[in-house]
Amino acid sequence: MFLLRPTCFSNRFLIVVLIFCISSLYFAYNFHWCLLFNIQKNWFKFNQSVVVHQCSSTANPPEAENATEIMSIKVIPFLLNGSSDFLPSKYRFLQQQGVRPVRNLPDALIIGVKKGGTRALLEFIRLHPDVRASGCEVHYFDRHYSKGLQWYRHRMPYTIEGQLTMEKTPSYFVTKGVPHRVHKMNAKTKLLIVVRDPVTRVISDYTQAASKKSDMKKFEQLAFMNLSKAIDTTWGPLKIGVYARHLEKWLRYFPLSQLLVISGERLISDPAFEIGRVQDFLGLKRVVTEKHFYFNSTKGFPCLLKSEARPRPHCLGKTKGRNHPYIEPNAIERLRAFYRPYNHKFYQMTGINFGWP
Ligand code: A3P
Repeated sequence: MFLLRPTCFSNRFLIVVLIFCISSLYFAYNFHWCLLFNIQKNWFKFNQSVVVHQCSSTANPPEAENATEIMSIKVIPFLLNGSSDFLPSKYRFLQQQGVRPVRNLPDALIIGVKKGGTRALLEFIRLHPDVRASGCEVHYFDRHYSKGLQWYRHRMPYTIEGQLTMEKTPSYFVTKGVPHRVHKMNAKTKLLIVVRDPVTRVISDYTQAASKKSDMKKFEQLAFMNLSKAIDTTWGPLKIGVYARHLEKWLRYFPLSQLLVISGERLISDPAFEIGRVQDFLGLKRVVTEKHFYFNSTKGFPCLLKSEARPRPHCLGKTKGRNHPYIEPNAIERLRAFYRPYNHKFYQMTGINFGWP
C-alpha cells in the first residue's frame, strides 16, 4: 500500500505532465507558426507595397492600370545599389558579353498634355529598339523632386550604349517650376508635347474624372459659372488647354528647337507620320513605320501589331478612347470662342497650324 501510493501518484503526475507538455508543444507550435506566417505575410505585403509604390505613387491610377494592360509588369528590385546581382536575367547575358546595362537619367521627356494622347505616343515610340522608357508616370519634377536625382535614376529602365531613356508625366507641362527643374537636370533634355483640340481635351479630362466619381457634377456646371455664359477660368481642367501660356514658361528655359509638338489628332489618323517626326527629332533611324500599326474599327483607334511585351495585335487599354458624354452644342461653341485666341497664339509660337475649330 505504501509502495503503491507513490506509484499511483507518480502515474497521475506523469499523465498530467504529459498532457501539459503536449498542450505546451501544441500551443508553442501554433504560436510560432502564426508568428512565422504573419512575419512572412507582412514581408510579402511590404515587398509588394514597395513595387506598387513605384507605380502608384507616380501615376494616376487609370494610367497605371492601362500601362499594365499593355505591358508586362516589371518588378524593380528594392534597395537597388547598382550591383549587377539585381540585373534582370535578360541583361545578365549582355553583361557576360561585356556590355554593361545602366540606368540613366532621361534624354527625352513627354511632358504633356494630359489627355492629349501621351500614352499612345509613349507606347508607339518605345517600339523602337533604341528607346527604353519607364512605363509609369514618375512625377519626379512635380511630386517627388525632394527625393533627388538618384531616386529618379533608379526609376528609369536599364539601357545599353546607344539607347535613349524616356519618361512621360503629362502634368509636367502645366506645373509651375518644372521647366526650371528639368533645365537644371540637363539643359539638353529633349521635350515632347502631344496636343489636341483643347475643347475635346477638356471633355476627355472630365470624362476620366467622372469615370472615377459617381456623383460628379455635369460638365456644364463645372465649366461655366452658375450656369451663366461666363467660363469658369479657375477650373483646373480648363486651364490646361491654354497651351500658349504653358509653352511660354518652357520657352524661357528651352529653345523651340528642343521641343517637338505632336498633333494628337494626327497621332490617331496617321500614327506612322507622327512617329516618323518623333524618330527624326530624337535622332533615331526610322524603324517604327506604318507596318507596326493597324486600325481597329471596333475600338476606333490605331492599335499595335506587336510590341516587346506582347507579340500579338493589341490596342491601348479601355481607359484610352472612352466615349465622351453629350455636351450642349452651345457650351461647346462658348468654349471654342474662349480658346480661339490662345490657339492662334500657340500656332504662332510653334509655327504649326493645328486647325482646331
Ligand atoms: P479619350 O479617351 O478621351 O478618347 P492620354 O494618354 O494623354 O491620357 O490621352 C488619352 C487620349 O489618347 C484618348 O482620349 C484618345 O483619344 C487618345 N488616343 C490617341 N491615340 C490613341 C490610341 N491609339 N488608342 C487609344 N486612344 C488614343
